[in-house]
Amino acid sequence: MLLKDRVAIVTGGSSGIGRGICLEFAKEGAKVVVADVSNKPKQGKFFETTPTPPVDEEINSKGGNSSFFQTDISNDKDVKNMINSTVDLYGKIDILVNNAGIHIPGNSEELSIENWDKVVGVNLRGQFITSKYCIPHIKKSNFGRIIQIASIHSFGGGLGPAYPPSKAAVLNLVKDLSIELASHNVTVNAICPGAIETPIQDYMTEKILKEYKNTIPLGRFGLPKDIGRAAVFFASDQSDWITGTSLIVDGGHRAKV
Ligand SMILES: NC(=O)c1ccc[n+]([C@@H]2O[C@H](COP(=O)([O-])OP(=O)(O)OC[C@H]3O[C@@H](n4cnc5c(N)ncnc54)[C@H](O)[C@@H]3O)[C@@H](O)[C@H]2O)c1
Repeated sequence: MLLKDRVAIVTGGSSGIGRGICLEFAKEGAKVVVADVSNKPKQGKFFETTPTPPVDEEINSKGGNSSFFQTDISNDKDVKNMINSTVDLYGKIDILVNNAGIHIPGNSEELSIENWDKVVGVNLRGQFITSKYCIPHIKKSNFGRIIQIASIHSFGGGLGPAYPPSKAAVLNLVKDLSIELASHNVTVNAICPGAIETPIQDYMTEKILKEYKNTIPLGRFGLPKDIGRAAVFFASDQSDWITGTSLIVDGGHRAKV
């Protein structure tokens, strides 16, 4: 097992990619804290359409160790409470996966300032808040890891004025934190997923999804597990000397010019 007895917090862990990361971490022996606004898994229009049990219950029923703490990562009080509860329960924090993220469709004329703030507040400010309050604990770990979930939209526009800029900024946050924390042997890296089968795709249409799929060289959308395995790599000793970088996991989508 690659993560035996490591304590990992996964934000937005109840659904989609976060859920996939929680399940892969648990298989590798980690104690998994699910920090999400709700422990009820989202049901999507196209993907994750059937109900599933809360991920902490699923992990515990298979003999693993997981806890859910209700947390809105854009609310610093929530984040502080979640971190205190984690340390009270497990005594330490080794790994933080900043996964929670949202997308609100609309171009710059359509998207309200309030909704722009909301997207950036979760996708960027939220990643800062959770990192800020986890860092004092992660520094004490011998295996400190921060993993930020960015996007292939970190590298280009085309999805409105809030989501791509928030994801681009995350990559710079990764670089800055990696420099800050290197002397504590804490690594900080990003994963940039392409299109993954999760409820976040609900704003799409069947036609757009079909066309999109045809642009992916490996011929399928990604699964939460695909990102989960990349997260296990960054969380484990196998990536000891990798920090301040990002890994694109997109079935080859961005390999095409
Ligand atoms: N699915 C994709 O194709 C894709 C591609 C690139 C990047 N991403 C990124 O991956 C991450 C996960 O996306 P997903 O597709 O699994 O989304 P999702 O909507 O399926 O799940 C997101 C989870 O985050 C939780 N969440 C939302 N706001 C939160 C908040 N303020 N505090 C705590 N939890 C919150 C939700 O309750 C939900 O459980 C996001 O950062 C997203 O931007 C997704």
